[in-house]
Amino acid sequence: MPRKKIVAGNWKMNKTYEEGLALVSALKNASRPESVWMIVTPPALLTREVSSMLKEQNQLSVAAQNCHQETSGAYTGEISAPMLRAAGAELVIIGHSERRQYFGEDNALLLSKVRQALAHDLQPIFCMGEPLEIREAGTHLEYVKNQLEKSVFQLAESDFKKIILAYEPIWAIGTGKTAQPEQAQEMHQAIRSWIVEKYNTETANDTSILYGGSCKPANAKDLFSLPDVDGGLIGGASLKADDFLAIAHSF
Ligand code: PGA
Repeated sequence: MPRKKIVAGNWKMNKTYEEGLALVSALKNASRPESVWMIVTPPALLTREVSSMLKEQNQLSVAAQNCHQETSGAYTGEISAPMLRAAGAELVIIGHSERRQYFGEDNALLLSKVRQALAHDLQPIFCMGEPLEIREAGTHLEYVKNQLEKSVFQLAESDFKKIILAYEPIWAIGTGKTAQPEQAQEMHQAIRSWIVEKYNTETANDTSILYGGSCKPANAKDLFSLPDVDGGLIGGASLKADDFLAIAHSF
């Protein structure tokens, strides 16, 4: 997929049905930048309704926050990729640090989720990022490279090309502490150089790499103007239409 400008909102476990639909209709009716692909990621209960609201909308899509690695079966409480696709989801977030940390999802499991999503025509937004102690120890580049090598770098090039990447330093998520532009650029540039090593320059240049972690209207412009940052994966600030739109207008 050619590189795009993307602003994806991850609602996490927020918004009831009515609140969620109100947010989506505010986004739908607002003036949005034509060149930016905006993605909303509501809780799965809202996927079908949001997808039907967004039919015919240009550059406004719905994603899921997670999917199971199996197609169907006795997995109480879980939701499969084909169910999400049938409900209208176009993408799915995989490997968010909250899933890794609170639900014990490791790189091998995440790779099987990515394969499952791709098999059912859901485009993965694959997240990676280091915890604070790794950043402080100065080994963040090796840490993130290892996450990639053990997961999406196992894919054939034709599959890897369908993936959007998101670098989300864990110490910046929901903390109000954003990575400094040079910290974000260092990592994004490194990720792109590893894609060159693993695949090739064309694939690296075509990969969209989003930044996530306390991205807000006040700092989005600085982050999005970095050469290797193609947009943001936004948590808290995606819950308010005005903030999310202001971020999308920051390119
Ligand atoms: P935040 O979350 O913007 O609230 O820091 C980012 C994320 O978890 O995707």
